[in-house]
Amino acid sequence: MKKFNQVLYGGDYNPNQWSKDIWQEDQAFFKKANINSTTINVFSWAKLQPSEAVYDFSELDEIIATLAKDEKEIVLATSTSALPAWMFKHYPEVGRVDFEGRRHRFGQRHNACPNSRVYQHYVKELVSRLAQRYGQQPQVSIWHVNNEYGGECYCENCEKAFRVWLQEKYGTIEALNKAWNLEFWGHTVYSWDEIVVPNVLGDAMDQRNTAFAGLSIDYRRFMSDSMLENYKLERDTIRQYDQETPITTNLMGTYKNLDYFKWAKEMDLVSWDNYPSFDTPWSMVAMTHDLMRGLKHQPFMLMEQTPSQQNWQPYNSLKKPGQMRAQSYQTMAHGADTIQFFQLRRSLGGCEKFHGAVIEHVGTTETRVFREVAQLGEELTQLSEIIGTKNVAKVGLVFDWDTYWALEYTSGPNQDLYYVDQIHHYYRYFYERNIAVEMVAPTDDFSEFELVVAPVCYMVKEGVKEAIEQFVQAGGTFVTTFMSGIVDQSDNVHLGGYPGPFRKLAGIWVEEIDALAPSQENTIQLNDGTQGKSTLLADIIHLETAESLGEYTSNFYQGQPVATKNTYGKGQVYYVGTQLDADSLATILDQAVDVDTLSTCLATKLEVTKRHSDSSEYTFVMNFTHTAEDLPAQFVGQLDILTGQEVNAETKVEPYDTFVFKRNLS
Ligand code: GLA
Ligand code: ZN
Repeated sequence: MKKFNQVLYGGDYNPNQWSKDIWQEDQAFFKKANINSTTINVFSWAKLQPSEAVYDFSELDEIIATLAKDEKEIVLATSTSALPAWMFKHYPEVGRVDFEGRRHRFGQRHNACPNSRVYQHYVKELVSRLAQRYGQQPQVSIWHVNNEYGGECYCENCEKAFRVWLQEKYGTIEALNKAWNLEFWGHTVYSWDEIVVPNVLGDAMDQRNTAFAGLSIDYRRFMSDSMLENYKLERDTIRQYDQETPITTNLMGTYKNLDYFKWAKEMDLVSWDNYPSFDTPWSMVAMTHDLMRGLKHQPFMLMEQTPSQQNWQPYNSLKKPGQMRAQSYQTMAHGADTIQFFQLRRSLGGCEKFHGAVIEHVGTTETRVFREVAQLGEELTQLSEIIGTKNVAKVGLVFDWDTYWALEYTSGPNQDLYYVDQIHHYYRYFYERNIAVEMVAPTDDFSEFELVVAPVCYMVKEGVKEAIEQFVQAGGTFVTTFMSGIVDQSDNVHLGGYPGPFRKLAGIWVEEIDALAPSQENTIQLNDGTQGKSTLLADIIHLETAESLGEYTSNFYQGQPVATKNTYGKGQVYYVGTQLDADSLATILDQAVDVDTLSTCLATKLEVTKRHSDSSEYTFVMNFTHTAEDLPAQFVGQLDILTGQEVNAETKVEPYDTFVFKRNLS
């Protein structure tokens, strides 16, 4: 399989939207910015197949020839995410039906029904032609299948396919009735064709909750699988003609609808599109990179980021001077081997004309954005040695799409409970202490970790309890929280007292779960005297074998434990029974975490993140604060490989400054 031998630097490029003289200008500009790759053919289906029986690759041939002449590497997309008008006209079934039951028409993108045989047929026809024609081109470095798979469809084809999926999963209708607990409200079904897909006029209670979460969760699994089948159809078609080029599709971080752990198993490389908002914390961006790396526990590609601004957020602020550079290095620090933009030339019309690009509407290289892109391009030419290096972590943070779905479908106890925010609340503790984290699926191997953290580990599927018990038994530390161990894979409660399968591990019984409205909070006091706040949800905990780490000091459950610690085998289990303020949480986690050994750099506000090869260690030091910070003493005298300068004790790290230090490990 082909491998990258330089940091791919470039991004989405749509020469087909421009005249030929612009193509020439683009090539000259790319050279100036050290852009070495382009992602092409993302949205060209209507050009490649102007009508049902006609294929025309002449323009794409010409684009590829132009890029090849300039020795550009090519990320070749398959164009299957925006359908030609003729397909909608002749086969309206290719359009999705939404949760409201409305059939969508030609106009948008990412709108094909994944279970439409017509769509699948034309996808296969197009992709086999592309793979046959371009699969052997040496400059094609990677295939980019479709674009940002996502959304959902509730059409009659999907309904039929869902019934088949259910039959394969459950075997009998009795097993399905039991799994979804359909006795509730007397919803027992007697044949597969009585099953109705989720719908606003069906089992929906509102936009978020449905009457039978078991059904909705299975539908999400089915939709994720359906789109994954679309991906696999393209992948397998490409593989018939090209066995050498890796294949990916661009993911979207913590995007809810697709179970990316399952997807990543089918992908040669993970790639993703990073679009933080003006107020997204840098710790959240870091966590999302770690999640994308964690999908395969391998370096990933940054497929898209904007060099300057976006158009689709409510407030599309500019990236400040230096911000794009710092953001790019943070991306690499967390495991990216490529830096690519959306897009290279800003579009003339359409909804993305206000989306930032390397080449702005003014059409020159004399812009702040271009200069910053060019500077980074030059720096990256020296960083090819980082490709393939690893991030090593002793802390595993559990992320699970099933729980994400189940927790947010649940009706009660508190509508403000959001999965990603809860995970981030814990991630931030490690981020602020420069402790590397590996994001893991609940079924991953934990043996390399000292600590496994599973906040709101709501759905505990088969095998997970045993794996965690084994990990703790052998000396590991496990941290979990309220809303953990509550349901099985079908969203039915693990009976016998919360936290169900974790009860023995945690050595507690949670009798009741109180919900706190935004205007309410409990006060708490930890054993060392720390006073703090409990919000969102509050467990009323009874100690069994655990000890209390602090208590509620208000409400009718004052005096009862708010967090606990239990010894189990050679290990420890911490249970946090409420949403704690950051300082109180830190007081608890400081007891569970060996901060001094695990941190790459303490007592600094700078982000310090490492990647390793067998022979070298690369330390990325970045300032995401608004003030100049001192360079920690441990780096004094080291050589910054970006500038070739040695840093000294007086070196200040200005906001968005980045250094990369290299150290030989031998
Ligand atoms: C997504 C898409 C791109 C483009 C960008 C704009 O990531 O993949 O085609 O629309 O958003 O930010
Ligand atoms: Zn459909």
